[in-house]
Amino acid sequence: MGYQEYMEERAKRTEWFLDARFGMFIHWGLYAIPGRGEWIQSYEETPKKDYETYFEEWNPDRYDPKEWARIAKQAGMKYAVLTTKHHEGFCLFDSAYTEFKSTNTPYGRDLVREFVDAFRAEGIRVGFYYSLLDWHHEDYPAYGDMYHPERNNEALKGKQHDFNVYLDYMHNQVRELLTNYGKIDIIWFDFSYEGHFGKDWRGEELIKMVRELQPGIIINGRLEANGEDYGTVMTDEPSIYSGDFACPEMIIPPYGLKTPNGVQIPWEACFTLNNNWGYTPNDKHYKTASQIIKKLVECTSKNGNMIINISPTAKGEIPRQQKEILREVGEWMHENSESIYGCGASGFEKPEWGRYTRKGNKLYAHVTEEVIGAIALPGVNGMVEKARRLSDGYEMLLLTPWVAKEFPGYAFVNYGTPECFSFSVEEKTDTVIELTLKK
Ligand code: GLC
Repeated sequence: MGYQEYMEERAKRTEWFLDARFGMFIHWGLYAIPGRGEWIQSYEETPKKDYETYFEEWNPDRYDPKEWARIAKQAGMKYAVLTTKHHEGFCLFDSAYTEFKSTNTPYGRDLVREFVDAFRAEGIRVGFYYSLLDWHHEDYPAYGDMYHPERNNEALKGKQHDFNVYLDYMHNQVRELLTNYGKIDIIWFDFSYEGHFGKDWRGEELIKMVRELQPGIIINGRLEANGEDYGTVMTDEPSIYSGDFACPEMIIPPYGLKTPNGVQIPWEACFTLNNNWGYTPNDKHYKTASQIIKKLVECTSKNGNMIINISPTAKGEIPRQQKEILREVGEWMHENSESIYGCGASGFEKPEWGRYTRKGNKLYAHVTEEVIGAIALPGVNGMVEKARRLSDGYEMLLLTPWVAKEFPGYAFVNYGTPECFSFSVEEKTDTVIELTLKK
């Protein structure tokens, strides 16, 4: 397939995704029991047999994916990506290729199946995160690997393993996930590192299989990237492993992402809600709802998506504080999501008081800073037909106040009369003003 055709196909595949802008990441696995993050096995160099005690007790009897789906929907999230298997190797699905799976725990059920059914029923698209690393599989390199929990276990030195056996296993599991659960919208591979990039995963074969099984699916870029860089999706010569979108982690690209030739790159920034992906009850450093809203707006204004993570407990519940934050985000989304869905960069200069997002002739002014008096709108002088507050349809006045005569380059919008009146309380998080531009 030629470059042009490839780019067109990619644009087609990612269209719904970029319209959606906002997703839910779910990191859930055995690591919810120790509650010190999903890397705990590696950090603490826990031998496999010790870690398996969590497997023997896994019983999330309050798992209610319908509730999770309702929470995601209320928050305004349009898709959700679940860790079907994280680096620990534990499978939340009923795989024919391993015993280390949820159906073999005291809980005994296929958690992925229930997730898929519940989210689809709420009209939320479903994605699967799948770890390329596997700290449980016998044929995954252990001793001397950079990250493996038993990297320093001398007893494993020189142990024979056949990486191809692992790769067969990994490919087979991806096949299961993309065959047994209906239409899957996203596959989120994680991640590549020294000695494990693209072709080392038999990536070409893998990508071909994924595309064959799920022609519409979108694939992230970590089959050849790790978060430190985003791989060849950033270039004008994307490789077969490049995937459909870049995934910046815990950072919003300062100017969005474009290739050297100026082609827009689909991207999704992923964020934790506190500072951990997996359930970590002692980490109380939560982001506020207001912060999340503003950052979602920032991603949108730079043509990117945001996926925010929740970390369910070992009992299967979303922690109360996480629910509370999402509920607040959802209240704002209820009134303002039109300024997010289907929106992107405005093409105008970034205003001092916040940001613009845009969809066609609708320009959304996100006022995130308190203002005094009329709001100066850069770039649109003479172009605005009408202005309404998005939350309630309230008419905003387009008039140049008498104090603005020195600033002829701007259009001005006012909360009411008199001309310089300020309703400063309005600007607490993000008051959105919908500006209809003249055609
Ligand atoms: C990192 C971590 C992982 C997390 C992921 C999410 O690559 O390995 O724990 O799942 O980022 O982006």
